[in-house]
Amino acid sequence: MRLEKHPILKFKRKKEITFFYEGQAIIAYEDEPIAAALHAAGITTLSESPRFHRPRGFFCAIGKCASCVMEVDGVSNIRTCIVPAKYGMKVKKQTEAKIFPEEFSGSQIFKQTPVIKTDFAIVGGGPAGLSAAIYASRFGIKPLIIEENFLIGGQLIKQTHKFFGSKSHYASTRGIDIAKILINDVQERGINIWTSSSVVGFYPGNILGVVKEGRYYKVEAKTILISTGASEKSILFPGNDLPGVYGAGAIQTLMNVYGITPGKKVLILGAGNIGVIVAYQLLQAGIEVVAIAEALPRVGAYIVHSAKLKRLGVPIFTSHTISYVFGKDKVEQAEIAEINHKWQKIQGTEKRLNVDTVGLAVGLSPSVEILSQAGAKMTYIPELGGYISLHNMNMETSIPGVFIAGDISGIEEASSAMLEGRIAGLNAAKKIIGENKELEREIIKNQKELVELREGPFGEKIRIGNKKLYKEAKDNGIH
Ligand SMILES: Cc1cc2nc3c(=O)[nH]c(=O)nc-3n(C[C@H](O)[C@H](O)[C@H](O)COP(=O)(O)OP(=O)(O)OC[C@H]3O[C@@H](n4cnc5c(N)ncnc54)[C@H](O)[C@@H]3O)c2cc1C
Ligand code: FES
Repeated sequence: MRLEKHPILKFKRKKEITFFYEGQAIIAYEDEPIAAALHAAGITTLSESPRFHRPRGFFCAIGKCASCVMEVDGVSNIRTCIVPAKYGMKVKKQTEAKIFPEEFSGSQIFKQTPVIKTDFAIVGGGPAGLSAAIYASRFGIKPLIIEENFLIGGQLIKQTHKFFGSKSHYASTRGIDIAKILINDVQERGINIWTSSSVVGFYPGNILGVVKEGRYYKVEAKTILISTGASEKSILFPGNDLPGVYGAGAIQTLMNVYGITPGKKVLILGAGNIGVIVAYQLLQAGIEVVAIAEALPRVGAYIVHSAKLKRLGVPIFTSHTISYVFGKDKVEQAEIAEINHKWQKIQGTEKRLNVDTVGLAVGLSPSVEILSQAGAKMTYIPELGGYISLHNMNMETSIPGVFIAGDISGIEEASSAMLEGRIAGLNAAKKIIGENKELEREIIKNQKELVELREGPFGEKIRIGNKKLYKEAKDNGIH
């Protein structure tokens, strides 16, 4: 169902168009992804698992999990959550594994690959990538931003709540408005942006392989920033792959970016900030939140967020987890149960909930695939979200001239992503223009602000993680 009224958002839909799903006419709007339009039309199964042909809906809604891949105009493996519907398109459910789009499999296409040269290639147009582009361009650098979504702004474009922090980190401004500020700045500076362009390879000599509008390009860059963000984690329980089980961020994307309701009755798993914020935003959109289940014995979200839910009467079951999701082709019911201190289910405490949607807010994993492929030195630091690439305080990795910033360097928040982006952008500029006093002052200023941001009890986990990281980086000669 499409939302018409919302207390914060106005959904200005563009021109109505029709496309075809398995021969059936589907109404969409220009700039609405195929998967979102299908969802609005009540079609939630988009593909099937290749071996057992179990139904698959979308899970991440940002191009990171592949559960929404479909055949579009004869081309398979299209991630329909990030590809807008077009008039007359023919879309089919994908029921078997396809390794590589056929049009890229002939060697001829690689021989004809155009090579684009740039001083600074930025992979990912979220808050980290956009900030890096802005700060590098302040020193005369002309970056190229490569973004796989057709929209830029990363996760900020779905965040309707106001941010914390200080004025220089846009405190009291909604995430959607911070995205607009950054995007306007980038556009006013005339920075080159490739949207709907995925970086799929990294070759020696700092060369990126990019798929853009059905063509393969090589981008040769003097410096590179990888700011690809993070992907949502799933957890094990029977039925966790059914359509209707989403990452909490996917619910936000569907609801806040495209104005489409994920369902009518929702169970959220995880009472950290993301789970609690998404639950509140569901209520704002007029959707019932049946319960939140949290495995820890306490609510992890800031009190300001969780208090709103308590006032609105949403039950939060602590020391509980999800034990089952029931349904044939989509979620019909979910079961939660109490767990003991060993995280084992306590028999007899099961509760069946009538829900059609389950939102998993159980953490994020840094999207490190490109760096790992590039051979950057990696490490595992649980406090930072898992595998990350070793880097120094200038955000440079073990590959000279290759920087990281934002969630890829450790799961944190948009404010730190912007600061890290600035530091990476400034250091990339330094590699190109050489020593410069003003540039050096800016690097130190932003590094100081980042340290200040992480002070206090909420920054403790990151401080512990970073201590481990910098020690290991130093031991590996990265400093
Ligand atoms: C529900 C929710 C609530 C949140 N609330 C807050 C909050 O209140 N305050 C706060 O500060 N933070 C909050 N955050 C966290 C914040 O959104 C992230 O920390 C921040 O967006 C990270 O920025 P980033 O630039 O690293 O990544 P992202 O914003 O994820 O951007 C990464 C970009 O890279 C692109 N990309 C990925 N792979 C490729 C590729 N191979 N080729 C090309 N492009 C690629 C993606 O499409 C994306 O646009 C919240 C997050 C969520 C999910
Ligand atoms: S890739 Fe489309 S839902 Fe995850």
